[in-house]
Amino acid sequence: MWYRLISLLIGYGFGLFQTAIVIGKIQGFDIRKEGSGNAGTTNMLRTKGAKDALLTLIGDFMKAVCAVLIVQAVFAHRAPQMLVLLKMYAGVGAVLGHDFPFYLHFKGGKGVATTAGVIAAISPLAGILCIVVFFALFFPLHLVSVCSLSAYSFFFLQVLVLGAIGRFHMTVPYVIETDVLAAVLTGLCFWQHRSNLRRLMRGEEKKVYLHRSLNE
Ligand code: G3P
Repeated sequence: MWYRLISLLIGYGFGLFQTAIVIGKIQGFDIRKEGSGNAGTTNMLRTKGAKDALLTLIGDFMKAVCAVLIVQAVFAHRAPQMLVLLKMYAGVGAVLGHDFPFYLHFKGGKGVATTAGVIAAISPLAGILCIVVFFALFFPLHLVSVCSLSAYSFFFLQVLVLGAIGRFHMTVPYVIETDVLAAVLTGLCFWQHRSNLRRLMRGEEKKVYLHRSLNE
């Protein structure tokens, strides 16, 4: 139990680093008062341009990777199935820290880049497949929220059906626990996109055109 809690807390600690807000502080703006108000890559791209968006993406992605790798190093001596589980706890912790930072009254970002970092650090192949799904939808639709939610739904499917993250080598209790954690990761993403889902239903979700943003 303690190992799980420690992994979750390590992840949460890393997740607290809000890249978009830090970039804004350095440059003298508050991303939460711009565009959609979300402290994330997409809003940075829309309102500030490609460079700041890329920095946000890298920062939010890497904090999750660091959290997972540190937990992997700390608990390297544990059995492989336990280690996968602890890395999942670190990942969930990182997304919770990003989405619900205590020092910002629990109002953070939507966790898309951070979840990408979690998936890539635990299973690079699953991460690559999620990126393929994301861009296969992005170029015809240009709706980042739809692409993110589809990619992370596909991650959950990969865990359940394809055994990503080593599920097939686990005993039943570990399988159930990792499935629940994967569901939490995907579920958090949906929960944080409530406003996007409402906008999508009203046909008001803003599209993102990469070539335009890159040329600005
Ligand atoms: O999926 C990420 C993104 O679409 C959410 O950000 O700015 O559109 O609310 P935003």
